[in-house]
Amino acid sequence: MAHVLIVGASKGIGFEALRQAIAVGHQVRAFSRSANRIDVFDANLEKRRGDALSEADIDAALGDIDVVVQALGVGAGDLFQPVSLFSDATRILVSSMERRGIKRLITVTGFGAGDSRDAISCLQFVPFRLFLGRAYDDKGVQERLIKNSRLDWTIVRPGILTNGPRSGHYKVLVKPSQWHNGFISRADVADFIVNSIDSEKYVRQAPVLVS
Ligand SMILES: NC(=O)c1ccc[n+]([C@@H]2O[C@H](COP(=O)([O-])OP(=O)(O)OC[C@H]3O[C@@H](n4cnc5c(N)ncnc54)[C@H](OP(=O)(O)O)[C@@H]3O)[C@@H](O)[C@H]2O)c1
Repeated sequence: MAHVLIVGASKGIGFEALRQAIAVGHQVRAFSRSANRIDVFDANLEKRRGDALSEADIDAALGDIDVVVQALGVGAGDLFQPVSLFSDATRILVSSMERRGIKRLITVTGFGAGDSRDAISCLQFVPFRLFLGRAYDDKGVQERLIKNSRLDWTIVRPGILTNGPRSGHYKVLVKPSQWHNGFISRADVADFIVNSIDSEKYVRQAPVLVS
């Protein structure tokens, strides 16, 4: 069983990944600014309060870790301002992982980030750019930093997120010709992430996930 650091573990996909990773027996270090308020108690869970933009916090959180899951997000109110959280946090994380020799990184970005931007339909392109353009430009930089690293990375690009249950049935679209938008639950994205913790199947790949 792996020692897993989840950066952005207090909510959403990161929180779902935390619950599912513990359930299958991984040891989880849950990292976020409000990690102390995570309402899960388990011998295999350590809550670590910290800021992903702090080199010291991230480096300390990486001690004894085998696999890192990065599931950061910004609030809706931040979408209309310049966004640099994803790239800034990733620069810090990648360099600290490389320094420590930790290889495996699983990062959540989203459909429309990086080269998947070309797969956004004409109808969705204008609203997508209007509401999510700043965040996704920064996710593009984040993806480049990861792809240029020496890490064994998987970039996870979910479609539109729901709070539905885990079904275990979703499409993992690896080829650019297959990419399209759609819905997927956070729990199913977490299912893919947790399955990837001890699998090399999607190393150096950036699949789009939709149900
Ligand atoms: N909404 C959609 O339809 C959609 C579609 C595709 C992709 N996505 C992407 O999927 C990802 C996950 O979204 P989500 O809605 O599941 O999660 P979320 O609710 O956005 O959660 C974000 C997590 O990041 C943490 N975080 C933010 N800033 C941090 C910092 N400086 N240091 C440490 N932790 C920090 C938060 O914890 P604290 O606040 O406690 O620090 C929280 O645990 C996001 O990148 C989102 O853009 C979303």
